[in-house]
Amino acid sequence: MPDNFFLSLDFLSTLFVFLLGCIALALILLFLSDRFYSKNAIRRNYPILAWLRPLTTELGEFYRRYIAFADREELPFSRAMRGWVKEAADGEKDTRGFGTKISFTERPFYFRNAAIPLNQDEAEDTPLLTIGPFCQHSYTPPSFFNMSAMSFGSLSAPAIEALSMGTELAGCWLNTGEGGLAPYHLKGNPDIVFEIGTAKYGVRDKDGNLCEDKLRELAALPQIKMFELKLSQGAKPGKGGVLPAGKVTEEIAKIRNIPQGEDSISPNRHDEVANIVQLLDFIEYLRNITGKPVGFKTALGDPDWIKELCEEITARGEQSAPDFITIDGAEGGTGASPMTLMDHSAMSIRKALPQTAEILEKYDLKGRIPLIASGKLVSAGDAAWAMAAGADYVVSARGFMFSIGCIMAMKCHTDKCPSGVATNDPDRQKAFIPNDKKEKVQNYVTRIREQAATIAHSCGVPHVRALNASHIGK
Ligand SMILES: Cc1cc2nc3c(=O)[nH]c(=O)nc-3n(C[C@H](O)[C@H](O)[C@H](O)COP(=O)(O)O)c2cc1C
Repeated sequence: MPDNFFLSLDFLSTLFVFLLGCIALALILLFLSDRFYSKNAIRRNYPILAWLRPLTTELGEFYRRYIAFADREELPFSRAMRGWVKEAADGEKDTRGFGTKISFTERPFYFRNAAIPLNQDEAEDTPLLTIGPFCQHSYTPPSFFNMSAMSFGSLSAPAIEALSMGTELAGCWLNTGEGGLAPYHLKGNPDIVFEIGTAKYGVRDKDGNLCEDKLRELAALPQIKMFELKLSQGAKPGKGGVLPAGKVTEEIAKIRNIPQGEDSISPNRHDEVANIVQLLDFIEYLRNITGKPVGFKTALGDPDWIKELCEEITARGEQSAPDFITIDGAEGGTGASPMTLMDHSAMSIRKALPQTAEILEKYDLKGRIPLIASGKLVSAGDAAWAMAAGADYVVSARGFMFSIGCIMAMKCHTDKCPSGVATNDPDRQKAFIPNDKKEKVQNYVTRIREQAATIAHSCGVPHVRALNASHIGK
């Protein structure tokens, strides 16, 4: 055989013909398998070609986001909205030229600006509002805008670390979500709201029951300011939390007191709470153990339920009331939940909040029970709307995610989050540097507070707490 045989034309052309033969044979086999053995009608009708469909579907979703959608079009958050949060987080100026891109036929509400607005020197600091006046340790949050529940597990360790340091810098609270307290939550020493989910992660014994000793231990931590009993959330009312098996690492399993590598599924409701009477009893019980404010979070299906709750509170006396109620709108986000519930259950925050506020007013309980609102309230305009519609505090989850670099890849449930925010894959987490993100959280919260105040001044009132329903037009 000559030295350069493998480079000779004869060899290369034989190899080429051989490879073509292999490809042709593979295509024939694929054609036969699609046509005669497949259980899929599209593959039987369009052998071989049908394989292009899943590929183009996936690529289509990806490219539409960057090329096809207009700035205000995409859901759940438009590019304009995500861009606004990013700009705020980066500390860039919020100045635009030419005019708004909002369609006036679709604008859901507007602020009734005063004919004569307030001057800057007439502005006032937002008054503070104490939560849990009957508790041994009541809480006076420094900020009206705060972080909503997101568990360690649904978010990565470095993301929680960044949020912990960032919320501390911003002077707002961080909510642990239902996954228990991780060391990363304490990294920056912020005020913390500990959420008690239906599986009682972080405060459960090995059988999944509430463990009083663990609850006492947590309540003794000075960082933990309040406890939020989770009844439900807007993206999955009536369904407990879900952390897919792929995200249940050894560390998460240890913190939650559950087996590693298995789906972590919370029950649909607390065993202790089957009705309003038991809800108030349980809140009382938790408050007595912790000495700190205890409220609950729910997605609302029917405001009449709030009326029944108010009637029971009135009968017992205002001391028995929950120290706050968090209303989460159907438009709220989630780490993982079924599309059926996301799409079809619960009221939008736009309806649930004003109706709940009105009922609390009617029963003279508005002063006793601060309302916390969430559900796509990620911009200053939306936060100011919520305050005008009856909220005492506004919280956001995805706004904080955007501030630390979430690009809305919608892959939270797959453990393949490209930005390292919502994945427990160590390789994907490596690119996320918490120290680079903490100031972004601070900038974002500061921008919300400043611009919500600007809206208040434009409406002729000195601070955001002075906004009310009369300032909202439709
Ligand atoms: C990644 C992720 C994880 C969440 N985890 C929890 C949770 O553990 N407990 C809970 O009550 N809500 C959870 N939520 C819901 C949020 O706390 C919030 O109620 C909802 O997303 C509305 O706020 P947003 O529209 O500003 O995101 C989660 C949301 C997201 C996006």
